[in-house]
Amino acid sequence: MRYVMVMNAKGGCGKTTLATNVAAHFAQQGYKVVLADYDPQRSSLDWLELRSTDLPKISGVAAYDDGLRNVSRDTEVMVIDAPARTHGSEMNELVRRAETILIPVVPSPIDMKAAAHFMEEIQELGRVQRDQARLAVVANRVRENTLAFESLDKYLGKLKVPYLSALRQSTNYLRAYQRGMGVLELPEYLAWPDWQQWEPITKWLDSKKSQPS
Ligand SMILES: Nc1ncnc2c1ncn2[C@@H]1O[C@H](COP(=O)(O)OP(=O)(O)OP(=O)(O)O)[C@@H](O)[C@H]1O
Ligand SMILES: [Mg+2]
Repeated sequence: MRYVMVMNAKGGCGKTTLATNVAAHFAQQGYKVVLADYDPQRSSLDWLELRSTDLPKISGVAAYDDGLRNVSRDTEVMVIDAPARTHGSEMNELVRRAETILIPVVPSPIDMKAAAHFMEEIQELGRVQRDQARLAVVANRVRENTLAFESLDKYLGKLKVPYLSALRQSTNYLRAYQRGMGVLELPEYLAWPDWQQWEPITKWLDSKKSQPS
């Protein structure tokens, strides 16, 4: 089983948005996917309830309550939506099994400062240092040609971890959420700019670069 985690200590940066979209991507590829929600707000599980049975199936686990105990053994990809404010030993415990960790950051000075602390902490983890988990960052809710994005872009570009993409702020994310879909499952005429921005993320996820050797 492959473990893909979406994480950042900061609230509201797009963890659930990324986790649901990543789960939809793997389900579209035919994998048996479980979406594990560690956040008692249940936003990922709420999204799953909105998902039509006509779409590739994703199972949900209320990991904030039961951990990962009730996960079916034939699961191929486990996508984990981590809660905000994870830190210290709790963070250590949470990443115990993660092999691939995606970190969304939104363009705001407060979020960037918080992300800088988080990046320092996560890069220090034994699992990451031993190359048992691979990290990547994604800019989220981006508005092109703004100073806030310019400064985030510069900051993420200087990190030692891959900076995969900048996802625009788009109502397509709200639309997709309301339908239990990923933006890659929305019609192309509507979501093609988002499809383009997701390409480097799915390419990385599907490559060996996101999986420890
Ligand atoms: N690229 C985007 N374009 C437009 N809206 C977005 C985008 N990404 C996220 N959002 C919206 O921003 C809000 C916060 O996103 P999300 O819930 O994914 O963040 P989160 O990190 O999971 O938050 P929390 O810490 O509360 O769990 C949501 O309303 C979501 O729909
Ligand atoms: Mg969330």
